[in-house]
Amino acid sequence: MYKIQHADKIAENIYEFWINAPHVAPNAQAGQFVVIRIDGKGERIPLTISAVDGENVRIVFMAVGKTTTQLADLGTGDQIQDIAGPLGVPSEVKDWGRCAVIGGGVGIACLPILARALKDAGNTVTGIIGARNESLLILEDELRDACDELVVCTDDGSTGFHGFPADILKKLVAEEVVDAVWIIGPAIMMKITSMATREAGIPTFVSLNPIMVDGTGMCGSCRVTVGGETRFACVDGPEFDAHLVDWDELMTRQRIYPEQEKKSLERYHEHTCRCGERK
Ligand SMILES: Cc1cc2nc3c(=O)[nH]c(=O)nc-3n(C[C@H](O)[C@H](O)[C@H](O)COP(=O)(O)OP(=O)(O)OC[C@H]3O[C@@H](n4cnc5c(N)ncnc54)[C@H](O)[C@@H]3O)c2cc1C
Ligand code: FES
Repeated sequence: MYKIQHADKIAENIYEFWINAPHVAPNAQAGQFVVIRIDGKGERIPLTISAVDGENVRIVFMAVGKTTTQLADLGTGDQIQDIAGPLGVPSEVKDWGRCAVIGGGVGIACLPILARALKDAGNTVTGIIGARNESLLILEDELRDACDELVVCTDDGSTGFHGFPADILKKLVAEEVVDAVWIIGPAIMMKITSMATREAGIPTFVSLNPIMVDGTGMCGSCRVTVGGETRFACVDGPEFDAHLVDWDELMTRQRIYPEQEKKSLERYHEHTCRCGERK
């Protein structure tokens, strides 16, 4: 069992957990993820490693369905059954020169560990983060510290630039030399934002989020097509060349179980008191 050392709600529906995982933390690198299981009957879900501190790893997640809602119902001192990792290929961290790291929504959670690693490798790092509105923005202060500069965007203009990270990236690429870009967020956001670097041929990495089950390359559920080839996001990724991803296939495969997901969340709510206790 693995103890949640600290749990906090950091934005509307978004939670930050520090979990004691001595087998994961010392080896974790930017771009990697864990697969967790809350209890013996629970499904396995992948979550990105957002930060590491000693023997603890931080996950930041949005409660969107049954398992993430059940996780959000836990708190400091509770325990989860399994945490496997670190999984996936680490980000290609080297001295690129000038880098931009871009996060949309809960995808911002992946940036702190990446921005720090890029800085440590000698890069100048511009962070660009975006959310629908101010109440959904996360980790702003931490990223201001981790990056050389940070631009904040909101879709509704409630804080920062009124618009999308893609608008800021387009401007940056037009005005300055940018050597490498990371974009992490919802698939549609990654697809659209990465168009800004396509023409200039700037190396652009995206962290793909297909449905994963085992996280070890055995089940095939995380199959994606990149550059016309089949790849498994859990072992070949999750980061890939943004300009080669078959985005339409990814988005279709993300939505193959809507009925089951809806029923599963309804069942969880039916069997759970409002205080979070199981009936
Ligand atoms: C490598 C990777 C890293 C991720 N990191 C984060 C993160 O740091 N923070 C965060 O909030 N979310 C992250 N996700 C997404 C997260 O795994 C899903 O939100 C979660 O699995 C939803 O489970 P659920 O039961 O709560 O929701 P459900 O109602 O079951 O599903 C809601 C939606 O989540 C997606 N999903 C469902 N099950 C899985 C699964 N087993 N694997 C992947 N996606 C699934 C599907 O698109 C689905 O339509 C990551 C996904 C991947 C692949
Ligand atoms: S999650 Fe099973 S092959 Fe990737």
